[in-house]
Amino acid sequence: MTGEGIGFGKAILFNEHFVVYKIPAIVSAIGKYTTAKVKEINKAGWTLNDNRKATPNYKEDKIDQQKDSINKIIKKMGVDLSKKGIEINLEGNLYCASGIGASAASCVAIARAISDHFDIDLSDDEINEIAYEGEKGYHGTPSGIDNTASTFGGLIWFEKGEKNIMDKIELQNQIEIVIGNTGKVANTTAAVAGVRERKEKNPERYKEIFNRAENIAYLAKNALMEEDYKELGKLMNENHKLLQQIEVSSRELDFLVKLARDNGALGAKLTGGGLGGNMIALTPGREKQEEVANAIEKEGFQTLKTVIGVSSRER
Ligand code: MEV
Repeated sequence: MTGEGIGFGKAILFNEHFVVYKIPAIVSAIGKYTTAKVKEINKAGWTLNDNRKATPNYKEDKIDQQKDSINKIIKKMGVDLSKKGIEINLEGNLYCASGIGASAASCVAIARAISDHFDIDLSDDEINEIAYEGEKGYHGTPSGIDNTASTFGGLIWFEKGEKNIMDKIELQNQIEIVIGNTGKVANTTAAVAGVRERKEKNPERYKEIFNRAENIAYLAKNALMEEDYKELGKLMNENHKLLQQIEVSSRELDFLVKLARDNGALGAKLTGGGLGGNMIALTPGREKQEEVANAIEKEGFQTLKTVIGVSSRER
């Protein structure tokens, strides 16, 4: 029997990094996903065929983290691979890059495929918990926001805590966005560790920045509910400024953010761990989305045109 599973890619709209310190964040699954297929092999342990398309060096750079992550998933699931093992095949239309939840999507897909293969019948909450363990292989101390978006899909208000808060934000209409890839693979663990170090050195300054980030989350939620895209864009720009202040942006990210804004995006910011990876631009309407994506592609960068605010696969 072959087991199958799926995990969505994601884009953080507000408060990556701040979320690690229990500041609320807003994340959306994107319409691209990773699939995993699992089948039995006559050998103990597991093997992997990673057929996902990826930014050059992405898979090579993450290979050790990926092994650690899969071992963590298998341990958490408690499946016995000591006699007969499994072959894991990864595919799907999510182009792997830093910042769009490629690691979380693969953890969720693998957990679901193993659960399907062994007929364990796990709930989404249980899959999410297992994927969180898998994410530790990539992030060290993940907040849990990425695996939550990858598991449940849709647009989510997320707060890390003793028990994480996860509220779905229901939109009346989808909103077009453009994601721009700097082409640089980044290390999330290092980015998170850097913030921690600087925060400990400058507690007062960081407190101010973090307070503003918290305000922005509430304002952004209102703007989303009221479909006030102009305000939403302004808040994204401000959120990017805060992310610059905690030093997780990069020259390439700032370049793409400015390019998107100069070509009509209502707002733009880095998305995910930063230091490379991806940026997200708010481009309501197909026309604006096309214009911004074209401008970015003209400069030689890859884009992804998608929407936020729906949870089905049909995006
Ligand atoms: C990475 O996608 C998001 C970070 O906030 C890390 C985390 O929340 O685990 C940078």
